[in-house]
Amino acid sequence: FTANMKVLLLFGLVAVALADIARFEGDQLLRLKPALDDHVMLIKELANSIQVDFWRPESPELVKVNSEVDIRVPAMYIDMVYTILQQNDMEHEVLIVNLQTAVDAQNDNKPSPRTHSYTKYNSWDKIQSWIASISSSNPGLISKQVIGSTYEGRPMTLLKLGKMSSSTKPAIFMDCGIHAREWISPAFCQWFVMEALSTYGTDAQMTSLLDQMDVFVLPVFNIDGYDYTHKTNRMWRKTRSRNSGSSCIGTDPNRNWNAGWCTVGASSNPCSDTFCGQTPESEIEVKNVADFIRRNKSIIKSYITVHSYSQLLLFPYSYTYDLAADHSELLKVAEGASVALNSLHGTRYTIGPGAATIYLAAGGSDDWAYDLGVKYSYTFELRDTGRYGFLLPESQIKPTCEETMLAVKYIAAYVQSVS
Ligand code: ARG
Ligand code: ZN
Repeated sequence: FTANMKVLLLFGLVAVALADIARFEGDQLLRLKPALDDHVMLIKELANSIQVDFWRPESPELVKVNSEVDIRVPAMYIDMVYTILQQNDMEHEVLIVNLQTAVDAQNDNKPSPRTHSYTKYNSWDKIQSWIASISSSNPGLISKQVIGSTYEGRPMTLLKLGKMSSSTKPAIFMDCGIHAREWISPAFCQWFVMEALSTYGTDAQMTSLLDQMDVFVLPVFNIDGYDYTHKTNRMWRKTRSRNSGSSCIGTDPNRNWNAGWCTVGASSNPCSDTFCGQTPESEIEVKNVADFIRRNKSIIKSYITVHSYSQLLLFPYSYTYDLAADHSELLKVAEGASVALNSLHGTRYTIGPGAATIYLAAGGSDDWAYDLGVKYSYTFELRDTGRYGFLLPESQIKPTCEETMLAVKYIAAYVQSVS
């Protein structure tokens, strides 16, 4: 090879690598404020005619009048969308003027280490080796088990935190990363594990919790999707399973549970970001977790699932406006958890049952766990409220995880006190 040829080859490889990764140059995150039914209809029409990425709510079917609608508009449609918004007199603001700049700015925590870091968004490869090393670091306090494989064959490793005991202990189950692009969520599960191990023996509450209970932590639920957001498309939400009869990929793993499945707030269209799947538990990841919780339902007292963004602490139901039988108790615990969370950095959370607080959406893991008999079932939607949305800068990982620890510990202490 001549030097020139080497340079050419190198550029070729870099070009191929770049071409593989979705870019969001000139895309904008807009917040629309539909004040009329006509505005809602217009948003749905827009979603049908051009490719719009719904961030909040997650699909056009969920849009309600007098709510805030955060959508990513691809660069090529920006002018057209502005014209339509102006013509129809719909209030709106620009949250992010250039998505690619925000994607690049997420990693603002320097220096960038080649190893795992609790204040960075780690790739699946790094999380996987972290799972291996952390679980062998403290054999008396942590163990791991594989509960199955993902669609693409990655092992779903569940961590169990808790002091070894000869008697069966009540437990809490927590998962992160059901949705691929909600990167702050897996970051929280990793933080929780680290914090639990490092404060056991010094923090009275953590010590008592792990002495008396076990906490199962699934650091990344939708591993295939998470890996895809790192390697190919940052904005991916669903699983990566193929759909027969459609070229669209993936199912929404939080619409695939057997809880009012696909009746409201979910789509039967495989191309939708809220596709409910072919059948309940059609997604192997959902089936694996559901099987584990069913097998252990006599000991699991609480189910906690971590999403982003919106700063919400939700509890059942989301598939109906009916109040849960334990509504007042669930509300009281959520209230205490949000007060604890707020005490650290002043972050404000909205609490309530999913349906009334955000929207009707069936097939969620929280409702499923609750109806199975896991009473203390909660969904967190972590920071922020839309300034960065899914592209929360890494500099916010630490404060977000610290405050969320207080809320999770509050729920855990309550569950412990009644178990
Ligand atoms: N943003 C979450 C989602 O749409 C909220 C989940 C609330 N729970 C529910 N069962 N829908 O998946
Ligand atoms: Zn989510």
